[in-house]
Amino acid sequence: MQQKIQGKFIVFEGIDGSGSSTQASLLYQYFQQQQIPAVLSPEPSNGIIGNLVREALRQRLQFTKDPEKFNRQLAYLFAGDRHDHLYNEIDGVFKLLGEGIQVITTRYYFSSLAYNANNPSEYDFIYRLNQDFPDPDLVFYFDLPVEISLERINRRSHQEIYETKAKLTQVRQNYQQIFQTYPGHWYQLDATNPPEVIHQKILQIITDLDFAVESGLD
Ligand code: TMP
Repeated sequence: MQQKIQGKFIVFEGIDGSGSSTQASLLYQYFQQQQIPAVLSPEPSNGIIGNLVREALRQRLQFTKDPEKFNRQLAYLFAGDRHDHLYNEIDGVFKLLGEGIQVITTRYYFSSLAYNANNPSEYDFIYRLNQDFPDPDLVFYFDLPVEISLERINRRSHQEIYETKAKLTQVRQNYQQIFQTYPGHWYQLDATNPPEVIHQKILQIITDLDFAVESGLD
């Protein structure tokens, strides 16, 4: 029997408003046009824990009034959702990859490190919670000045708890630090460019290098 070639696990990361979801959708459409089996699978996921997290982010659900405890609770939920997203036997990432399907994920453990750690001891805690999750095959990091991110977010109908200037400034710095030392395959893209320009750059990376990319800046 012919063995299926394992799919690739491709992650899109960036601060809110950086256009990573738009780019993930464009890549998904490209795979569809090429008749390459692919799924778009975000985090927080579409599973039960992921939906719980989304309600908490919109402040429709409050586990505690203490912001520190609330953050810790969310960190556990993000990690629980991640485990479910990767390993559930219905539509988990590894099941799909094993069937030769490309999996495009907006946000992964990089988001937990960038968003949910406000100081070094919290960073250690988040790091420990996530340390057993495997690295993806490729990460696209969308870098965007916070001022532009806020302009884009303010045009939306609703805002989430992390969408403030102070928070996003911290998150952008965290991302820059994380990727400075990240040993896996990653690419930084300038998210101020028009969507079509960014999409073409992504296609170039994917087709030219057939995922065997060198890490580096745009
Ligand atoms: P979204 O904007 O991609 O839908 O993500 C929802 C929010 O969840 C976004 O503000 C980032 C946040 N988030 C975390 O704080 N930690 C995580 O681990 C993940 C996956 C998302």
